[in-house]
Amino acid sequence: MMDRTFVMVKPDGVQRGIIGEVVSRFEAKGLKLIAARFEVLSEKRVNEQYTEHLEKPFFPSLKKYIMGGPCFLMVWEGRNVVSIVRTVIGATNPQEAAPGTIRGDFGIDIGRNVIHASDSPDSAEREIAIHFKSHELFSYTRIDEPVIYEY
Ligand code: RTP
Ligand code: MG
Repeated sequence: MMDRTFVMVKPDGVQRGIIGEVVSRFEAKGLKLIAARFEVLSEKRVNEQYTEHLEKPFFPSLKKYIMGGPCFLMVWEGRNVVSIVRTVIGATNPQEAAPGTIRGDFGIDIGRNVIHASDSPDSAEREIAIHFKSHELFSYTRIDEPVIYEY
């Protein structure tokens, strides 16, 4: 089975109208979208998603930010997808993120960095399970797969 990762356009990204831009970049890279949903996250799911940050000083503002509007939640699939997506989104602080990355191209403040992505395969598995049921993850073939991968 191919690797999977959890990605989410945060409320500021949604409000700036860049869902399509984000999806396009991952599609162009050759990754496969296997699940998506648009919703305002509950407090419970935000706490689960960001469990490693619960005690951090920035957590209250992070929670308010994430719950401040609808997010666009996705699962992407592909070989080494976790690290590829982290490279495509760029550094946590948009001020330090390289041009050409999503955060480098669209953000300024660390607390408004437009997108989330899992930081390891273990986090990806955990986060996918928080937000999606297994029947919401779809299996299909991209017709360009034979030319994207070196088999
Ligand atoms: P994310 O989980 O959202 O993909 O971001 P990340 O892995 O690049 O960064 P992480 O350390 O997990 O931080 C989670 C989110 O918390 C906000 N943050 N604010 N004010 C601050 O010092 C601060 N540090 C982190 C950011 O929105 C960051 O994406
Ligand atoms: Mg993180």
